[in-house]
Amino acid sequence: MSLLSLEAVGRNFGGLKALQGVSFEVPEGGTFGVMGANGAGKTTLFGVISGFIKPSTGGVTFQDKDITSLPPYKRCIAGIGRTFQITKPFPELTVRQTVRIGVLLRTKNMAEATQKADVILERFGLMAHAERLGHQLAVMDRKRLEIARAYATAPKLLLLDEVAAGLRPAEVDKLVELIDSVASEGVTVLMIEHVLPAIFSLAKQVVVLDHGQLIAQGTPSEILKNQHVIEAYLGAGYGTA
Ligand SMILES: Nc1ncnc2c1ncn2[C@@H]1O[C@H](COP(=O)(O)OP(=O)(O)OP(=O)(O)O)[C@@H](O)[C@H]1O
Ligand SMILES: [Mg+2]
Repeated sequence: MSLLSLEAVGRNFGGLKALQGVSFEVPEGGTFGVMGANGAGKTTLFGVISGFIKPSTGGVTFQDKDITSLPPYKRCIAGIGRTFQITKPFPELTVRQTVRIGVLLRTKNMAEATQKADVILERFGLMAHAERLGHQLAVMDRKRLEIARAYATAPKLLLLDEVAAGLRPAEVDKLVELIDSVASEGVTVLMIEHVLPAIFSLAKQVVVLDHGQLIAQGTPSEILKNQHVIEAYLGAGYGTA
């Protein structure tokens, strides 16, 4: 059974077709990747899945329920958590408070929430920064906080929008490890990523968008050999060097 299913999703912004007839299914378990050039429609797709953007056409099914008209907070309760491409730490909240807000989705007991938040801070390597404000953190720690905040809502499906962007290779490796450990707990991860080593070491299946349309789906090695993907995204010279 698939966890998430997109059926002919389209989204127009004025005359621009940011998404057109996009259909694919994300099975339960493991990591699934979304690739595509800048402006291909990837973040718009996440907006449609998480409810921040209404599709102009088509629908979204999660755990066999049509969620197309549910607002974002109800999708979060249903088990869809997301990060934002442009990290926006709450300016007046500490790292601990930020993660605790996520935990409070599932419990109203503050002591329990603080305790659970601390377990997550430890797990994500953020405990040393618990009392700092989110915007004071270095890039790598902001990324971790962004993922921790979404993870804290106990999602079944975790949407990660370019969390490896801007990181050094050693930092990418650490992040890959973290995402892999989250996925191995049974959280299904859907990740948008330009950092190819990150997506190729994690994702079992990848879809590729080009100008709002799905142009390929397959395993990372199939995608690397796909002529359409090479022309539209990887670059015509890819693999010939
Ligand atoms: N709110 C909006 N209003 C108007 N146009 C938008 C809006 N959001 C996105 N777009 C346009 O839709 C297209 C797809 O944007 P989107 O952000 O989904 O791309 P992306 O694949 O995430 O790109 P990137 O890799 O740069 O993050 C782009 O042409 C973008 O300019
Ligand atoms: Mg984007």
